[in-house]
Amino acid sequence: MADTAAQIITIDGPAGVGKSTISRKVAARYGFTYLDTGAMYRAVAWYLVKHGIRLDDIPAVESVLDRITITLLPAEQEDGDVGVVLNGEDISAQIRTPAISMVASTVSALPAVREKLTAMQRQIGAQGRVVAEGRDTGTVVFPQASHKFYLDATPEARAGRRAQQLRERGETVDEAQLLEMTIARDRQDSEREVAPLKKAEDAVLIDTTRLDADQVFEAITKLIG
Ligand code: DC
Repeated sequence: MADTAAQIITIDGPAGVGKSTISRKVAARYGFTYLDTGAMYRAVAWYLVKHGIRLDDIPAVESVLDRITITLLPAEQEDGDVGVVLNGEDISAQIRTPAISMVASTVSALPAVREKLTAMQRQIGAQGRVVAEGRDTGTVVFPQASHKFYLDATPEARAGRRAQQLRERGETVDEAQLLEMTIARDRQDSEREVAPLKKAEDAVLIDTTRLDADQVFEAITKLIG
């Protein structure tokens, strides 16, 4: 791949498809910054829940957006999630719960929230050399990206992987409930009016149902060069 400042790689797809693992690996391979856009939606969701702000109280949500600062930190471990600091408070662990996943999905349908976070993401991407991961990074945030990928897999495969991850963290898992939440989140993320989850026309589709992370990584890096 030509090493220019304009390089942006986008990796979009539904919940639990393996975007984070792949994005982290691809970013490390090229020495790019990994931009986890979902972490930002999670941070806003966490703040609104913590302060008891109703999601249909748009003026209150907008005033929150004016007074929060979100900073993403590199993951502490090579295969860990990025850290998130909101107004100086480290909320990295608090945002990675199934409950916050669902609220983040609801919050992300609000145009004011998307506007603010999209602007932040473009600012981070302005210097190039970024791997951006999310739902709309190839369609809305960085339509000019040099390489776009869309990962997909059956809801069963995705819920199964999430269950495995949670078990590895020592948590008890209700797999049927996870599947239900995955399907509900897919529906909410793809049916919203603003920047819904969908494949960019010029993105390469990779079905990861029967592929492991190394195989997906190889397919992507082969295409990028
Ligand atoms: O990728 P994730 O599971 O951390 O994202 C949490 C929620 O945030 C997801 O259900 C929808 C929303 N999101 C979004 O709307 N747009 C993005 N670019 C990233 C995430």
